[in-house]
Order: sequence, then structure tokens, then C-alpha cells
Amino acid sequence: MPTVVSPSPPLRFPGDPAEIFSLAYASRPSRVLQGPEMQSLERQSAINNKVLKITGLLIWDDEWIVQILEGEEEEVRRLLEKIEADDRHRDLRVFAENFTPARRLGEWNMVFRTVRYQAPKMRDSYRGLVESLADTPLKLELSDDRVASFRRMADLCEAL
Ligand SMILES: Cc1cc2nc3c(=O)[nH]c(=O)nc-3n(C[C@H](O)[C@H](O)[C@H](O)COP(=O)(O)O)c2cc1C
Repeated sequence: MPTVVSPSPPLRFPGDPAEIFSLAYASRPSRVLQGPEMQSLERQSAINNKVLKITGLLIWDDEWIVQILEGEEEEVRRLLEKIEADDRHRDLRVFAENFTPARRLGEWNMVFRTVRYQAPKMRDSYRGLVESLADTPLKLELSDDRVASFRRMADLCEAL
């Protein structure tokens, strides 16, 4: 059974700025990603992000990667530059951003989930959600509702 991960109360860490910056991007895997390599990327990211006080969530399948990052704005943008340069994915597009008084994914340094092994209906709903957001010409607000829909999706997915 997948772990139930939502809802979570908004969290603030000691030393957090008044405004937590968050962004969400979508990208395309540049090749077939393997479960074990994603597990090890998740472990490495959780360690790095803890030091940077960056929290978030990543959902992936063979078509799309979506990642939400939240923390101090400069740290988040610096990490995003690194992630963007990573050749495991391509066509990265930040589709939503905003500032909030607290973290909405604060209990995770970085959690990865995959919809690859879900029923077709679930995979379609993931793709539909990502495509509807990633295709908008303007940058969206990363509202609580949008974060909640990705959290709900993560609840239903495997930890691989
Ligand atoms: C889809 C994707 C998401 C990633 N997310 C993170 C992340 O949240 N944190 C992180 O430190 N590295 C992440 N990485 C790895 C970085 O691109 C990079 O390899 C890593 O930060 C290397 O760190 P170092 O140069 O400090 O060793 C991600 C890579 C990919 C492909």
C-alpha cells in the first residue's frame, strides 16, 4: 500500500525567510529512467536539499517529470539551474511560482514518486494534469490547490 502523505500542515523551519518561494517545473525524461537510479537520485537530492533547506516533491513517468521546490528564493533558483543542466531530462519549463508564508511540502527534503506502474486511468490523469499546466503560455500561480493536487497524486503512487 502506498504511504498516505496528505494533507500536511504548513510548516516553517527555524531561520526561514518571511516568504517561502516555491516553483513547479515540468520536463521530459531524455531516456527511459530506471527505478534504482531514481531511488539513488532521490536519496542524493534529499541529502543535498536538507543542507539547503529546500523541500519538495517530484513525480515522474516515461513522458513527464514534475518537481516542486520550495525554500529560500536564491537557493531554490540556484538549485534549479543545476537541475536544468542535468542531461537526464530536457525541455524543462517552470510553469508556476509563488511566495507563501509557510512550506506546503515541509516534511520532505525531497520525495520522488512514479506513476509508471499505475492503472492507465491514473497515468492519463497525471499526463492530463501536467499537460494542462505545462502548456499555458503564462506562468501560473503555484496555488495551495495546485500543490494539493500533486500531493494527492503522490499519495497514490509508488515510491520507486
Ligand atoms: C529530474 C531531476 C531532479 C533533480 N532534483 C534534485 C534535487 O531536488 N536536489 C538536488 O540536489 N539534486 C537534484 N537533481 C540532481 C542535480 O541535477 C545534480 O546532479 C546534483 O545536484 C549534483 O550535485 P553536486 O554537483 O553538488 O554533486 C535532480 C536531477 C534531475 C534529473
